[in-house]
This record gives sequence, structure tokens and C-alpha cells, in this order.
Amino acid sequence: MRRKLAAGNWKMNGTGAALGELQALSQLHPSPRIDILLCPPATLLHRAGQALESAGISVGGQDCHAQASGAHTGDISAEMLKDAGAEYVILGHSERRQDHGESDDAVRAKARAAMDNGLTAIICVGESLEQREAANTLDIIGGQLSGSIPDQSTGENLVVAYEPIWAIGTGKVPTLDQIGDVHDFIRARLERRFGEGVGRSVRLLYGGSVKPSNAAEIFGVSNVDGALVGGASLKAADFSGIITALESA
Ligand code: 13P
Repeated sequence: MRRKLAAGNWKMNGTGAALGELQALSQLHPSPRIDILLCPPATLLHRAGQALESAGISVGGQDCHAQASGAHTGDISAEMLKDAGAEYVILGHSERRQDHGESDDAVRAKARAAMDNGLTAIICVGESLEQREAANTLDIIGGQLSGSIPDQSTGENLVVAYEPIWAIGTGKVPTLDQIGDVHDFIRARLERRFGEGVGRSVRLLYGGSVKPSNAAEIFGVSNVDGALVGGASLKAADFSGIITALESA
């Protein structure tokens, strides 16, 4: 059985003033049957890890460099994230693919570095609205999966997040059938590449405008093992509604 995972991605939001939200999150007592993860900005990673440890909530990074160290001003290595308390790192988010021109090759190299340093890589894939309207969704996702996921992946060190770009921060959500079609496709691709054992053990998250009001129905879709949540993870009250929905899924 795959453990369910609710992951919050704070993106470039949060300073020390957000510690109150962390405090509120630390008061949640999520079921030990599910995993909860918060990925704050790197500046808050250590403090968030300390605040959330007693609640059993993990922390993770939002990106890492592919190399271990060196002359890369502004970048953070996987080892540094691990050292700051991270257990996971989000890689290949569409905002990084767009804002920083990250290719599938670059994402795969980062994922290798993350896995080599004992982090679980949450690799993001997703189509644009134009690609969906041109009926290219599965081709795009298939290409991103084969290009971004390293050969060394297992059910422990890899999570895949399906985040349609047009659903991120827009309030638009695909139909449950559309989510199910993509998640079933991702599962089939993973099983074909890694074999049934590994392919079935990798957790698949849906991301894009997940809220307490739509979480339960999304969690009811086949091969949806949890969510990667942006805006609604910024408020402990909203994130906790999503966690509650996952606990009863
Ligand atoms: P929203 O939940 O704000 O749509 O963001 C989704 C996302 O990009 C999570 O990584």
C-alpha cells in the first residue's frame, strides 16, 4: 500500500512572520497513516523543521542544484537541504521550468543529486492549456516522465506530481476523469519502465487549485495518492482541511 502524502509548497512566500502559521500547523495531529510535508522557502527551512518536528510533519526544499558544491552563486545543493532538515525536494515545478528554463535533462540531473543525498524527489510534470487543447497532454507528460526521472528511482526516493499548468493558482481544476486519465497513464509508464513492483510503489500527487472544498473528490480518483498544494497550504486552517480529507480518503 502506498502511504498517502499531503505536501504544501509555499513557493516564494513567507518570512519569520509566518512562524504563527507554522505554530498552528504544529498543533495538528495528523494520522500516522499519512505523510505530511511542508516546503517553505529555503530561508525558513530550518525553523520550519524545528517547529513541525513534534507534529511529525516533514519539511522539504523547492529546488536544488545538480552539483554537490562549487561556484554557483545563489544555488543550494541537495546536501545543504538535507543538512537543514529536508527529507524531500520539489524538482521541475512548472514555475522553475518557465522562469529558469529548466529542461528535462536539468531536472533529471537534480533528481539524481537529491536521491544520492537521501532526499525524496517530487518531480513535477504537467501540460499547458495550449497543449491540452491540441490533445497533446499525454505526449507531453510522457516526454517529461522519460526525460526527468532518473534510472535509480524507487518508491522511496521518487514521488511524481501531476500539475496542469493552467490549473495552478487559477481556481480551475481538471475534471475528475481528466485527472484520472493522466494519473493512470503515469502509473502505466512507471510500471513499464521500472517494473510492476517499483512502478506501483511510487506515489502520484495531483496539484493545481486544490482546496478543502475539492480535496475529497480529487482524493477519490484512482492513482491519486495525495496532493501538492500551493496557495491553500499558506493558511494552516485550509491546509488542515485538505489533510483531514486525505485522512478519510
Ligand atoms: P495552487 O495550489 O496555488 O494552485 O498551486 C499548485 C502548485 O503549483 C503546487 O506546487
